[in-house]
Amino acid sequence: MNKKVRIAVLVSGGGTNLQALIDAQKKEILKSGKIELVISNNSNAFALKRAEENNIPFEIIDKKNFEERLKEILQSHKIELIVLAGFTAVLPDNFVKYYDKRIINIHPSLIPSFCGKGFYGIKVHQAALKKGVKITGATTHFVNEIIDGGEIIMQKAVEVYEDDTAEKLQKRVMEFAEWIILPKSVEKVCEDIIEKIKIK
Ligand code: GRF
Repeated sequence: MNKKVRIAVLVSGGGTNLQALIDAQKKEILKSGKIELVISNNSNAFALKRAEENNIPFEIIDKKNFEERLKEILQSHKIELIVLAGFTAVLPDNFVKYYDKRIINIHPSLIPSFCGKGFYGIKVHQAALKKGVKITGATTHFVNEIIDGGEIIMQKAVEVYEDDTAEKLQKRVMEFAEWIILPKSVEKVCEDIIEKIKIK
């Protein structure tokens, strides 16, 4: 069997992006990598139910010794790629440097608009509506020490409607941008990792 990149998905909440990755794996849109593990910083995250239902091992890490535990778990599962899918904690600089080009995040706007410190969850869409933009969307990017500042992998635009509320917009951005570009981006990065291993 061909080599598959070992993926860990980090979550904190509902896990619809995790679900999109699981579905993509089933449909073989994601075929160069495999979700080996789900990690949450929230024991009540519904995302954990999704992992359980799909027989994906999961771990809950609390705030105490977070970085140390995270590294231990990732290493013991030989994880090669980390996907932040609605993960609320900011990862420490050292950790991010160690996993250079090996951490992907999804952000619900077209970076560099409505991103960085304080722009998370519904706040991103509230800010987009307040500004009156006609187009928004989602962005996948590598994670570096700057919040939402790493190299962009993919983006997809979504139209803003006149009668939008932040909630309606959030839903549209998820359905028509996030759930599409996250699996595609993960597959692309996995392909690139496998290619690099071959060259070595
Ligand atoms: C998504 O909007 C994602 O872009 C953001 O947090 C939300 C997570 O949703 N980072 P879910 O947990 O994947 O349903």
